Amino acid sequence: MVASTHLTTEQKQSLTLTQGKERKHLKLIETTYSSNTNSDYTEKIEHLYKTFKYSNNCNHYWTEPEQSMLYGTPLYASASASQRLALNHLHWFGMYNVVAASETETIAYNQITNGVFSACGYDTLARELALETSQERYHINAFHKIGYATMKALLGQEAFKVPLKSKLYQLTNQAKDESSPFALYQYNALRFIAKTMLKSYKKYYSPYLKELEETYKLIPASTTGLIGRGLSPKAWQRFFAFNWGASPFLASQYYAVRIMANMVLKNTEHGISKYFKSLEKKGEYIPAPTAVSHYHFLDESFHSTISLVLARDLYKNFPQPTAYEKFIANLAVYKMQCGILSGLSATVPDRYYADDTALMYFVYRILQSSLFGMSSPEALHWMEKCFCQEHEGFHVALKYNQRLLSEFRRFYENLDYLWPVNREMRPMTLGGSISKAIQKNIKTFKQFSKLVADDNE
Ligand SMILES: [Fe+2]
Ligand SMILES: [Fe+2]
Repeated sequence: MVASTHLTTEQKQSLTLTQGKERKHLKLIETTYSSNTNSDYTEKIEHLYKTFKYSNNCNHYWTEPEQSMLYGTPLYASASASQRLALNHLHWFGMYNVVAASETETIAYNQITNGVFSACGYDTLARELALETSQERYHINAFHKIGYATMKALLGQEAFKVPLKSKLYQLTNQAKDESSPFALYQYNALRFIAKTMLKSYKKYYSPYLKELEETYKLIPASTTGLIGRGLSPKAWQRFFAFNWGASPFLASQYYAVRIMANMVLKNTEHGISKYFKSLEKKGEYIPAPTAVSHYHFLDESFHSTISLVLARDLYKNFPQPTAYEKFIANLAVYKMQCGILSGLSATVPDRYYADDTALMYFVYRILQSSLFGMSSPEALHWMEKCFCQEHEGFHVALKYNQRLLSEFRRFYENLDYLWPVNREMRPMTLGGSISKAIQKNIKTFKQFSKLVADDNE
């Protein structure tokens, strides 16, 4: 290190500026940690889920009606008042089912990166990430307990039976054999590359990953959370996780991926929080799920601030990233964009996956449940109208997509190492098209209805 007395005036000014900026974001981490520690939102969520009864909440909308499944479709227009309420509750279930899976992923990645930051001496940050991890456990419990009680009340025990062998299920869930010897071989090969490229950072290596290795366990991976969907298959997810736990720059850039999930959630929950406040102002009954969403929104605002500081500022304190590190950070953002943000949904306004394939089977089962009581041909008739023809629901989806896109662009333009395709969010921009969504759905629906016909034979 060069002694500051030997620096030129220009170098001293630049050093003071850098130190000033570093102090500023360390202060923000400390303030966030202190506010998060002193808040009681998690405790409120815990009380709400432990006392939740569907029967006390079933006659109320939990969000604005536009945040309902099938909103704006011809089917919604002809649905009864009680069916519309159920579609509103099913949207809450569906959304938080994904949030719970994504927060399960977060628990692992927080721990993986936390060890790297501890090795760099960021103690307050390490405590904040440990606090977030414990909060996520309460959040997940709340989403599971309320979600399952809701599904059981609306669709009965049948809703939990998953016909794994059905070809219809396999089409819409794209089940893959990821435990094959090839998948393991692929992961080991990728890990070898990462280890070689990052060997100079050995002293920062995540203790969480070290412990997994010593006990011959694999890094957790999923297929249902946002990272599980964006960075699939599992071998690649584990490869990225390994990188995030192996260098300070890459540990901070996991948060450029985590912030995607934070922003996707905020794009929905901000509306629910406003709905909560309007009910509160009018002195009206506030359904427990609405309150859970509101307090979750507040808890998550601390987590979003941390993602923002780590992804946008912290990496500037670390040594300049190598070409390999920049490549991995870019590849993660690019794959996430393509996997979870490159499309519009016909039946769920705040869903941005590349296509609606996974939703078709769920909608088919809802239409055949006691809620709608349709025969198979009737269900297919309505599905064709909802998935394959333009309707108001697509325009609501486009509104959500455009709002999110401009938030993303505002954030990612600050990351100087990003490729233009990421800084400008090109896959998401291209995917925000009603006609493309309809074309994709027509193709999938053809396959889907053929499989229904085969299953019925
Ligand atoms: Fe959460
Ligand atoms: Fe969170």
